[in-house]
Amino acid sequence: MSDMTSENLGAALVACHDRAHAALEATFFGALEALTALDLGRAVSQWETLMAATASHLDAEDAALLDLLDDAQAPPRGASARIVAPEHSRLGELLAAGQAALGALHAFAEAPGSPVRRVMVRRLEPLLRVHHLLTHHHVRERELVYPFAARRLTAAEAARLMRVLEATTAACEAAIAPI
Ligand SMILES: [Fe+2]
Ligand SMILES: [Fe+2]
Repeated sequence: MSDMTSENLGAALVACHDRAHAALEATFFGALEALTALDLGRAVSQWETLMAATASHLDAEDAALLDLLDDAQAPPRGASARIVAPEHSRLGELLAAGQAALGALHAFAEAPGSPVRRVMVRRLEPLLRVHHLLTHHHVRERELVYPFAARRLTAAEAARLMRVLEATTAACEAAIAPI
């Protein structure tokens, strides 16, 4: 961070981002837990929480990081905006596809005698794709993007990004049912 003397805030940014991704993942699993309990209404609402929190997370990253990740700034290999921005777009598309699959299943489950479990397992794929990409994307950010960004962001920019990430973590944690 250019105007910071402390490496601690850089480490805090990375840790804050890790917590935000852990909360997104827990919300994803909350949706699947509700699905396996055949609580379709709760699965849909968990998915909506996941979508909203992920959208805020991605918007904040786009605003704070994409300029930094321009090729002219020499980001690490694998951390270019040319890679990160399309992954963000793809995550949004996959979340919307998952929402459509869950919505269709919810409607189907309300018909008496519907073989909900049979249909449910056949509709898991679009949901699992979200988890695959989210996990892959988090590794890219944890290993490449955030360590680079932590050295380049100003303290004010890092603090702004952390505020959004902390808010999304709190929103996810508030929505997840205790086990
Ligand atoms: Fe991201
Ligand atoms: Fe992220």
